[in-house]
Amino acid sequence: MARVLSGIQPSGDLHLGNYLGAIRNWVTDQDSHDAFYCVVDLHALTLDIDPEVLRSRTRDTAIDLLAAGLDPARCTLFVQSHVTEHTQMAWLLECVATMGELGRMTQFKEKSEGKDSIRVGLFTYPVLQAADIVLYDAERVPVGDDQRQHLELAREVANRFNHRFGDHLVVPEASVPPMGARVMDLQHPERKMSKSVNSPLGTVLVLDDPAEIVKKVKKAVTDNENEVRYDPETKPGLSNLLELLAVATGRTPTDVAGSYERYGDLKKDTADALVELLAPLQARRLELAGDPGEVARLLAQGAEKARKVASATYQRAARAVGLLAPE
Ligand code: TRP
Repeated sequence: MARVLSGIQPSGDLHLGNYLGAIRNWVTDQDSHDAFYCVVDLHALTLDIDPEVLRSRTRDTAIDLLAAGLDPARCTLFVQSHVTEHTQMAWLLECVATMGELGRMTQFKEKSEGKDSIRVGLFTYPVLQAADIVLYDAERVPVGDDQRQHLELAREVANRFNHRFGDHLVVPEASVPPMGARVMDLQHPERKMSKSVNSPLGTVLVLDDPAEIVKKVKKAVTDNENEVRYDPETKPGLSNLLELLAVATGRTPTDVAGSYERYGDLKKDTADALVELLAPLQARRLELAGDPGEVARLLAQGAEKARKVASATYQRAARAVGLLAPE
Protein backbone atom coordinates (compact mmCIF):
# COMPACT_ATOMS: atom_id res chain seq x y z
CA MET A 1 0.00 0.00 0.00
CA ALA A 2 1.23 3.47 -0.84
CA ARG A 3 2.42 5.57 2.04
CA VAL A 4 0.66 8.84 2.88
CA LEU A 5 1.60 11.34 5.53
CA SER A 6 -0.01 14.52 6.67
CA GLY A 7 0.32 16.88 9.59
CA ILE A 8 -1.99 19.22 11.44
CA GLN A 9 -1.11 22.14 13.67
CA PRO A 10 -2.44 21.95 17.22
CA SER A 11 -4.21 25.24 16.69
CA GLY A 12 -7.26 24.61 18.85
CA ASP A 13 -10.76 23.49 18.07
CA LEU A 14 -11.30 21.81 14.73
CA HIS A 15 -13.84 23.51 12.52
CA LEU A 16 -16.00 22.21 9.74
CA GLY A 17 -13.46 23.31 7.12
CA ASN A 18 -10.71 21.17 8.65
CA TYR A 19 -13.07 18.27 9.09
CA LEU A 20 -14.79 18.19 5.69
CA GLY A 21 -11.84 19.51 3.70
CA ALA A 22 -9.10 17.35 5.18
CA ILE A 23 -9.71 15.06 8.11
CA ARG A 24 -12.52 13.13 6.46
CA ASN A 25 -10.14 12.25 3.63
CA TRP A 26 -7.53 11.16 6.13
CA VAL A 27 -10.09 8.79 7.61
CA THR A 28 -10.86 7.31 4.18
CA ASP A 29 -7.17 6.99 3.29
CA GLN A 30 -6.59 4.75 6.31
CA ASP A 31 -8.02 1.79 4.47
CA SER A 32 -6.41 2.31 1.09
CA HIS A 33 -3.00 3.52 2.26
CA ASP A 34 -0.32 2.99 4.83
CA ALA A 35 -1.21 6.24 6.54
CA PHE A 36 0.84 8.35 8.98
CA TYR A 37 -0.66 11.42 10.64
CA CYS A 38 1.05 13.74 13.07
CA VAL A 39 0.12 16.62 15.30
CA VAL A 40 2.90 19.09 14.51
CA ASP A 41 3.61 20.64 17.90
CA LEU A 42 7.16 21.61 16.88
CA HIS A 43 5.79 23.72 14.05
CA ALA A 44 3.46 25.43 16.53
CA LEU A 45 6.50 26.72 18.42
CA THR A 46 7.04 29.22 15.60
CA LEU A 47 3.99 31.05 16.95
CA ASP A 48 3.70 32.92 20.21
CA ILE A 49 1.99 30.28 22.22
CA ASP A 50 1.69 29.76 25.93
CA PRO A 51 3.34 26.47 26.98
CA GLU A 52 0.29 25.15 28.83
CA VAL A 53 -1.96 26.11 25.94
CA LEU A 54 0.29 24.31 23.46
CA ARG A 55 0.26 21.20 25.60
CA SER A 56 -3.50 21.08 25.97
CA ARG A 57 -4.12 21.91 22.32
CA THR A 58 -1.81 19.10 21.26
CA ARG A 59 -3.79 16.68 23.40
CA ASP A 60 -7.11 18.10 22.20
CA THR A 61 -6.13 17.91 18.55
CA ALA A 62 -5.18 14.27 18.96
CA ILE A 63 -8.55 13.66 20.62
CA ASP A 64 -10.33 15.45 17.77
CA LEU A 65 -8.59 13.26 15.22
CA LEU A 66 -9.45 10.09 17.10
CA ALA A 67 -13.05 11.24 17.48
CA ALA A 68 -13.22 12.03 13.77
CA GLY A 69 -12.40 8.40 13.03
CA LEU A 70 -8.65 8.00 12.84
CA ASP A 71 -8.13 4.55 14.21
CA PRO A 72 -4.71 3.64 15.63
CA ALA A 73 -5.32 0.07 14.51
CA ARG A 74 -5.51 1.26 10.88
CA CYS A 75 -3.10 4.20 10.81
CA THR A 76 -0.16 5.62 12.71
CA LEU A 77 -1.19 8.68 14.70
CA PHE A 78 1.48 10.44 16.70
CA VAL A 79 2.79 13.71 18.09
CA GLN A 80 5.68 15.13 16.07
CA SER A 81 7.92 15.94 19.06
CA HIS A 82 7.63 12.37 20.34
CA VAL A 83 9.79 11.25 17.44
CA THR A 84 13.13 13.05 17.84
CA GLU A 85 14.22 12.16 14.31
CA HIS A 86 12.08 15.02 12.97
CA THR A 87 14.48 17.69 14.25
CA GLN A 88 17.51 15.58 13.38
CA MET A 89 16.35 15.08 9.82
CA ALA A 90 15.44 18.75 9.57
CA TRP A 91 19.08 19.63 10.29
CA LEU A 92 20.33 17.38 7.51
CA LEU A 93 17.90 19.03 5.12
CA GLU A 94 18.79 22.54 6.32
CA CYS A 95 22.27 21.78 5.09
CA VAL A 96 20.80 21.13 1.63
CA ALA A 97 18.13 23.86 1.40
CA THR A 98 19.10 27.43 0.56
CA MET A 99 18.26 30.84 2.04
CA GLY A 100 17.04 31.92 -1.37
CA GLU A 101 14.40 29.24 -1.74
CA LEU A 102 13.15 29.60 1.84
CA GLY A 103 12.97 33.36 1.43
CA ARG A 104 10.60 32.88 -1.49
CA MET A 105 7.97 31.03 0.58
CA THR A 106 4.77 33.06 0.53
CA GLN A 107 3.76 31.94 4.00
CA PHE A 108 7.08 33.12 5.41
CA LYS A 109 6.79 36.43 3.60
CA GLU A 110 3.25 36.97 4.88
CA LYS A 111 4.03 36.04 8.46
CA SER A 112 7.25 38.03 8.66
CA GLU A 113 6.14 41.13 6.81
CA GLY A 114 6.58 44.33 8.75
CA LYS A 115 8.21 42.58 11.73
CA ASP A 116 11.62 43.73 12.83
CA SER A 117 12.35 40.53 14.71
CA ILE A 118 11.75 37.30 12.82
CA ARG A 119 12.41 33.93 14.32
CA VAL A 120 14.76 31.54 12.58
CA GLY A 121 12.19 28.79 13.14
CA LEU A 122 9.63 30.65 11.08
CA PHE A 123 12.14 30.76 8.24
CA THR A 124 13.09 27.09 8.44
CA TYR A 125 9.50 25.92 9.06
CA PRO A 126 9.17 24.37 5.57
CA VAL A 127 12.38 22.37 6.03
CA LEU A 128 10.99 20.78 9.18
CA GLN A 129 7.87 20.01 7.18
CA ALA A 130 10.00 18.39 4.46
CA ALA A 131 11.67 16.31 7.19
CA ASP A 132 8.25 15.19 8.48
CA ILE A 133 7.47 13.89 5.03
CA VAL A 134 10.71 12.24 3.89
CA LEU A 135 11.21 10.45 7.21
CA TYR A 136 8.24 8.24 6.38
CA ASP A 137 9.05 7.68 2.70
CA ALA A 138 5.67 9.29 1.99
CA GLU A 139 4.68 9.18 -1.67
CA ARG A 140 1.54 11.23 -1.26
CA VAL A 141 0.87 14.16 1.06
CA PRO A 142 -2.77 15.30 1.41
CA VAL A 143 -2.67 19.03 2.07
CA GLY A 144 -4.70 22.14 1.46
CA ASP A 145 -4.04 24.44 -1.45
CA ASP A 146 -2.06 26.82 0.80
CA GLN A 147 0.59 24.13 1.31
CA ARG A 148 1.42 23.52 -2.36
CA GLN A 149 4.52 25.68 -2.24
CA HIS A 150 5.85 23.91 0.85
CA LEU A 151 5.36 20.59 -0.89
CA GLU A 152 7.19 21.85 -3.95
CA LEU A 153 10.07 22.83 -1.68
CA ALA A 154 10.07 19.39 -0.04
CA ARG A 155 10.33 17.79 -3.50
CA GLU A 156 13.13 20.13 -4.49
CA VAL A 157 15.13 19.48 -1.33
CA ALA A 158 14.62 15.70 -1.48
CA ASN A 159 15.74 15.66 -5.11
CA ARG A 160 18.82 17.72 -4.34
CA PHE A 161 19.69 15.43 -1.42
CA ASN A 162 19.39 12.38 -3.66
CA HIS A 163 21.44 13.98 -6.38
CA ARG A 164 24.25 14.78 -3.98
CA PHE A 165 24.24 11.71 -1.73
CA GLY A 166 22.51 8.93 -3.66
CA ASP A 167 18.92 7.82 -3.94
CA HIS A 168 17.92 7.67 -0.29
CA LEU A 169 14.78 9.79 -0.04
CA VAL A 170 11.37 9.24 -1.57
CA VAL A 171 10.28 12.36 -3.45
CA PRO A 172 6.75 13.20 -2.25
CA GLU A 173 3.80 14.41 -4.22
CA ALA A 174 1.13 16.81 -2.97
CA SER A 175 -2.46 15.70 -3.12
CA VAL A 176 -4.81 18.66 -2.98
CA PRO A 177 -8.56 17.97 -2.70
CA PRO A 178 -10.81 19.46 -5.41
CA MET A 179 -12.21 22.95 -4.94
CA GLY A 180 -15.58 21.56 -3.89
CA ALA A 181 -14.02 20.40 -0.65
CA ARG A 182 -13.43 23.99 0.40
CA VAL A 183 -15.75 25.12 3.13
CA MET A 184 -16.29 28.88 3.13
CA ASP A 185 -16.82 31.22 6.07
CA LEU A 186 -20.56 31.56 6.73
CA GLN A 187 -20.26 35.33 7.26
CA HIS A 188 -17.69 35.99 4.52
CA PRO A 189 -18.42 33.33 1.92
CA GLU A 190 -15.72 34.67 -0.39
CA ARG A 191 -13.01 33.34 1.92
CA LYS A 192 -12.18 29.96 3.39
CA MET A 193 -13.41 28.99 6.84
CA SER A 194 -10.27 29.43 8.87
CA LYS A 195 -9.14 29.36 12.44
CA SER A 196 -6.68 32.18 11.90
CA VAL A 197 -9.28 34.81 11.04
CA ASN A 198 -11.53 35.85 13.87
CA SER A 199 -15.04 35.10 12.63
CA PRO A 200 -16.86 33.22 15.38
CA LEU A 201 -20.25 33.41 13.68
CA GLY A 202 -18.81 32.34 10.34
CA THR A 203 -16.94 29.34 11.71
CA VAL A 204 -18.75 26.16 12.71
CA LEU A 205 -16.66 24.27 15.21
CA VAL A 206 -16.83 20.52 15.30
CA LEU A 207 -17.58 20.93 19.01
CA ASP A 208 -20.47 23.39 18.62
CA ASP A 209 -23.67 22.23 20.28
CA PRO A 210 -26.84 21.91 18.17
CA ALA A 211 -28.21 25.33 19.19
CA GLU A 212 -24.94 26.99 18.18
CA ILE A 213 -24.91 25.26 14.80
CA VAL A 214 -28.53 26.23 14.12
CA LYS A 215 -27.79 29.84 15.05
CA LYS A 216 -24.70 30.09 12.82
CA VAL A 217 -26.39 28.52 9.81
CA LYS A 218 -29.50 30.64 10.25
CA LYS A 219 -27.38 33.81 10.27
CA ALA A 220 -25.25 32.71 7.31
CA VAL A 221 -24.83 35.43 4.70
CA THR A 222 -26.60 34.67 1.39
CA ASP A 223 -27.81 37.22 -1.18
CA ASN A 224 -30.78 39.45 -2.00
CA GLU A 225 -32.35 37.19 -4.60
CA ASN A 226 -34.74 34.43 -3.72
CA GLU A 227 -33.69 31.77 -6.17
CA VAL A 228 -32.04 28.60 -4.87
CA ARG A 229 -29.36 27.90 -7.44
CA TYR A 230 -25.85 26.42 -7.20
CA ASP A 231 -23.54 29.13 -8.50
CA PRO A 232 -20.41 29.65 -6.40
CA GLU A 233 -19.31 32.64 -8.52
CA THR A 234 -22.32 34.90 -8.09
CA LYS A 235 -24.01 33.23 -5.11
CA PRO A 236 -21.09 32.17 -2.88
CA GLY A 237 -23.00 32.13 0.43
CA LEU A 238 -25.95 30.13 -0.82
CA SER A 239 -23.68 27.78 -2.76
CA ASN A 240 -21.63 27.14 0.35
CA LEU A 241 -24.80 26.05 2.20
CA LEU A 242 -25.74 23.82 -0.73
CA GLU A 243 -22.29 22.24 -0.66
CA LEU A 244 -22.47 21.66 3.07
CA LEU A 245 -25.85 19.99 2.84
CA ALA A 246 -24.64 17.99 -0.17
CA VAL A 247 -21.51 16.75 1.59
CA ALA A 248 -23.45 15.90 4.74
CA THR A 249 -26.04 13.89 2.84
CA GLY A 250 -23.89 12.39 0.08
CA ARG A 251 -25.59 14.28 -2.78
CA THR A 252 -24.40 16.87 -5.27
CA PRO A 253 -24.99 20.61 -4.66
CA THR A 254 -26.97 20.96 -7.89
CA ASP A 255 -29.17 18.07 -6.93
CA VAL A 256 -29.75 19.59 -3.49
CA ALA A 257 -30.58 22.96 -5.05
CA GLY A 258 -33.37 21.32 -7.02
CA SER A 259 -35.14 20.32 -3.80
CA TYR A 260 -35.53 23.84 -2.38
CA GLU A 261 -37.50 26.96 -3.16
CA ARG A 262 -36.83 28.97 -0.04
CA TYR A 263 -33.56 29.96 1.62
CA GLY A 264 -35.10 29.39 5.05
CA ASP A 265 -35.92 25.77 4.35
CA LEU A 266 -32.45 25.14 2.97
CA LYS A 267 -30.90 26.67 6.07
CA LYS A 268 -33.03 24.62 8.39
CA ASP A 269 -32.16 21.34 6.68
CA THR A 270 -28.48 22.26 6.41
CA ALA A 271 -28.31 22.97 10.13
CA ASP A 272 -30.10 19.71 10.95
CA ALA A 273 -27.80 17.72 8.66
CA LEU A 274 -24.70 19.24 10.23
CA VAL A 275 -25.97 18.54 13.73
CA GLU A 276 -26.54 14.94 12.74
CA LEU A 277 -23.18 14.66 10.97
CA LEU A 278 -21.27 15.91 14.00
CA ALA A 279 -23.22 14.13 16.75
CA PRO A 280 -21.29 10.82 16.70
CA LEU A 281 -18.00 12.65 16.59
CA GLN A 282 -18.95 14.81 19.55
CA ALA A 283 -20.02 11.76 21.53
CA ARG A 284 -16.69 10.01 20.88
CA ARG A 285 -14.83 13.18 21.78
CA LEU A 286 -16.55 13.39 25.14
CA GLU A 287 -15.71 9.78 25.85
CA LEU A 288 -12.03 10.22 24.97
CA ALA A 289 -11.72 13.47 26.91
CA GLY A 290 -12.88 11.55 29.96
CA ASP A 291 -10.11 8.99 29.54
CA PRO A 292 -6.77 10.84 29.29
CA GLY A 293 -4.85 7.67 30.14
CA GLU A 294 -6.22 5.92 27.08
CA VAL A 295 -5.36 8.86 24.82
CA ALA A 296 -1.80 8.96 26.19
CA ARG A 297 -1.49 5.22 25.64
CA LEU A 298 -2.67 5.48 22.03
CA LEU A 299 -0.22 8.30 21.33
CA ALA A 300 2.67 6.37 22.89
CA GLN A 301 1.81 3.42 20.71
CA GLY A 302 1.65 5.67 17.63
CA ALA A 303 5.01 7.25 18.46
CA GLU A 304 6.59 3.85 18.77
CA LYS A 305 5.34 2.77 15.35
CA ALA A 306 6.42 6.08 13.82
CA ARG A 307 9.86 5.94 15.44
CA LYS A 308 10.63 2.59 13.82
CA VAL A 309 10.17 3.99 10.32
CA ALA A 310 11.67 7.40 11.08
CA SER A 311 14.83 6.10 12.68
CA ALA A 312 15.56 3.76 9.77
CA THR A 313 15.25 6.65 7.31
CA TYR A 314 17.28 8.99 9.46
CA GLN A 315 20.08 6.43 9.87
CA ARG A 316 20.14 5.89 6.13
CA ALA A 317 20.36 9.62 5.47
CA ALA A 318 22.89 10.28 8.23
CA ARG A 319 25.25 7.62 6.90
CA ALA A 320 24.78 8.90 3.37
CA VAL A 321 25.93 12.44 4.26
CA GLY A 322 28.95 11.07 6.09
CA LEU A 323 28.03 11.13 9.77
CA LEU A 324 30.03 8.50 11.63
CA ALA A 325 27.82 5.77 13.06
CA PRO A 326 28.09 5.54 16.84
CA GLU A 327 29.44 2.19 18.03
N1 TRP B 1 2.38 23.23 7.44
C1 TRP B 1 1.20 22.40 7.47
C2 TRP B 1 -0.03 23.29 7.67
O1 TRP B 1 0.10 24.36 8.22
C3 TRP B 1 1.25 21.39 8.58
C4 TRP B 1 2.30 20.35 8.36
C5 TRP B 1 3.46 20.21 9.07
C6 TRP B 1 2.28 19.31 7.41
N2 TRP B 1 4.16 19.11 8.62
C7 TRP B 1 3.46 18.56 7.59
C8 TRP B 1 1.38 18.96 6.39
C9 TRP B 1 3.76 17.48 6.78
C10 TRP B 1 1.68 17.88 5.59
C11 TRP B 1 2.87 17.14 5.78
O2 TRP B 1 -1.10 22.89 7.31
